[in-house]
Amino acid sequence: MSVERRMGVPTSVRVSEIIRENKTTSTLLFQHEADDLTVEPGQFFMIWIPGIDEIPMSISYWDSPVAGVSVLPVGDATSALASQQVGEWIGVRGPFGTSFSTDAKKALVVGGGIGTAPLRLLVHDLLARGADVTLLLAARTKDSLLFLKEFSTLRDEAFHLLTATDDGSEGFKGLATEAAEGLLEKESFDAIYTCGPELMMVGLHRLAQEKRIHFEASLERHMKCGCGICGSCVLDPTGELVCLDGPVFTGERLLNITDFGKYERDEMGRKKKF
Ligand SMILES: Cc1cc2nc3c(=O)[nH]c(=O)nc-3n(C[C@H](O)[C@H](O)[C@H](O)COP(=O)(O)OP(=O)(O)OC[C@H]3O[C@@H](n4cnc5c(N)ncnc54)[C@H](O)[C@@H]3O)c2cc1C
Ligand code: FES
Repeated sequence: MSVERRMGVPTSVRVSEIIRENKTTSTLLFQHEADDLTVEPGQFFMIWIPGIDEIPMSISYWDSPVAGVSVLPVGDATSALASQQVGEWIGVRGPFGTSFSTDAKKALVVGGGIGTAPLRLLVHDLLARGADVTLLLAARTKDSLLFLKEFSTLRDEAFHLLTATDDGSEGFKGLATEAAEGLLEKESFDAIYTCGPELMMVGLHRLAQEKRIHFEASLERHMKCGCGICGSCVLDPTGELVCLDGPVFTGERLLNITDFGKYERDEMGRKKKF
């Protein structure tokens, strides 16, 4: 990747299409014409919203040269991004970070809320490589299940969709970890991949350790540069950077990260409990 694309001026792209995924989340698609652009499932872009901020966003769509990010408005930057219209400009740096491995033969993929964003490409990639994939989509309520429309109409014998909602409005009533635990009692998998609330990922990590299943999770931390310069996404005690050494970490590496499930850092770098 060129130095400019890593550290310098973002590439300007125009929003070409907007997909309303559910009540809260929209996907912005745009054409990224850089010749050397390759995207692996789990990687992210730093997206610059003119006059507002630059924020990390998982890459949820990639069909060269069209890329996309799925945004849940939670504050100024995400709200401004979610209100972009077709034809408007945003800036893109990246892709950054590590990706999910895609060599599992029988995979359980667990997405919690907006954390499902980086898992969309992973599911399609695993299926294209001939894997059997069970996707457990989880959220507080049916309206927040991401990519439900798309995955509930995906016809592939190797694909199985399960849903879990805290309020029981769709699928299993309860936490994703409880749904996964029940599933793991009945079926065996050779890998669990996840992204979502960190306490959910901690619970899944524990289950994977008990069942001795390969585990990968995508972590979220406050990011300023996205490419290893500012240190704002550092994890204790290993000093690993989520933007460079992650966001995807294996279960083995997470065993050494005492921050996992316990602490994140605010925009000033101060540690705060989950
Ligand atoms: C690798 C990665 C991938 C992400 N992918 C997505 C995605 O696909 N879709 C999506 O909607 N969101 C994603 N996020 C989260 C998104 O970046 C934050 O919600 C956004 O930065 C919040 O900015 P804001 O101004 O809207 O909200 P603020 O009001 O600034 O903050 C709201 C919350 O977001 C956190 N936050 C603020 N700035 C950042 C930052 N620069 N980096 C990380 N967290 C921050 C704050 O700590 C706070 O908890 C991802 C984050 C990371 C680290
Ligand atoms: S965001 Fe700057 S080092 Fe990770």
